[in-house]
This record gives sequence, structure tokens and C-alpha cells, in this order.
Amino acid sequence: MPRDISSVSPAFIEHAHGTGAQMRADASKCRRCDLYRDATQVVFGEGPDKPRVVLVGEQPGDREDRIGRPFVGPAGRVLDSCLAEAGVDRSACYLTNAVKHFKFSQRGKRRIHKKPNVGEVRQCAWWLGGEIEWLEPTLLVALGATATFALFGRRYTVMADRGRILKADNGAAALITVHPSSLLRNPARSEVLQERIRFISELTLITRFLTA
Ligand code: URA
Repeated sequence: MPRDISSVSPAFIEHAHGTGAQMRADASKCRRCDLYRDATQVVFGEGPDKPRVVLVGEQPGDREDRIGRPFVGPAGRVLDSCLAEAGVDRSACYLTNAVKHFKFSQRGKRRIHKKPNVGEVRQCAWWLGGEIEWLEPTLLVALGATATFALFGRRYTVMADRGRILKADNGAAALITVHPSSLLRNPARSEVLQERIRFISELTLITRFLTA
């Protein structure tokens, strides 16, 4: 019988091993998929060496790709303000992405975000799994569907499983919530305001879990 790999978490199958500095240097030469061809640089995770919380996004955006740091663009600003409202200190968290190169299509001068495919997420889980092993966080937070897939395979979905504490395959606790860019789409609409309130209340679970 062929093995059903859909429930296997890409980040916990085979992954890099080493210190953060070693992996960061190795990842800068990564050719595991083709995304390195058009991206400016690898955007590796950043934060304290032994964080209790690791937040996982999808992939760097245009600004992150140019600057080389995760969550420094518009989605990062939404994340920062929602973390602050939830009472979570961003500087105490390690922030990273499921995919470390920016995937985009060029439209004139603009670079339009393209969602990474399953193959790209699986290849890049090599680095995500390595980061998690090195950091040994108490709590993993998946921001959106791509991060949820990277951490859990197809076991959980954002829609069905957001907002409760689950267990990842490495034994760490894990929380699934939406990606902050989902709040950027049309900030005037009342559903987006509701969604922001829900996102903040899910982020408060981080502090509640850590202080329990
Ligand atoms: N979106 C992400 O998922 N990650 C980033 O670093 C920036 C935007």
C-alpha cells in the first residue's frame, strides 16, 4: 500500500541540523527549488536564540526580499500592532517563514506575490525544521495556510482548527491562526475589523499558554 503522506508534517520529516548561524549561512546558497533564481536573497528567520515562541509566516514579501529580514513590510506592521494589542512582545519571539525566498510575478514595475506550491514548501521545510530543532520553542504559531501545511501536513486547516492549542510532531505546543495579510485586503470592511479582533484574541493565547 502506498503510504499516505498528506498527514505528514513537512518540517519534521528530514531537515537541516546545526546552529542558527550555520544554517543561515548554508541557506543563503540554497538551490533546493528554483525560487532562488528571481529572489534577491534568502530571508532567514530572526529573533532570540532560545525563544519560547516561534511564529511562522508564509514567505517573504517584496520589502522583506529587498531588506533581507522577515515581516518588515505591510503584513509585518499589522502583525506588530496585533501582537502589541495582544500583549505579546515581538522582540521575545523568533519570526520565520515556511518558504525563505520571495515568489512573485512581475507586472510592469510591480512584483506581485505568488503563493508557494506544495513542492516548494516541502523543499524549504528543510530549513524550517532545522530552525525549530535548533530553537526548541515551547510554542509554534502558524500564521495562515502555508505555515499550517508546513507544520502539520494536511492534518489541520486554518478554518477548522484556528484558535486552540494543538500538538506538533516534535512535541511542542502549536497554535494556528490567520496570516496578518488577510487583514490588509480591505481594512474598511466590518468583517475585516471582526477578523482583526479575532486574530488579536487568538494571539492572546500565546501569553495565556506561556503563563499557565
Ligand atoms: N508575509 C510573510 O508571510 N512573511 C513575511 O516575512 C512577510 C510577509
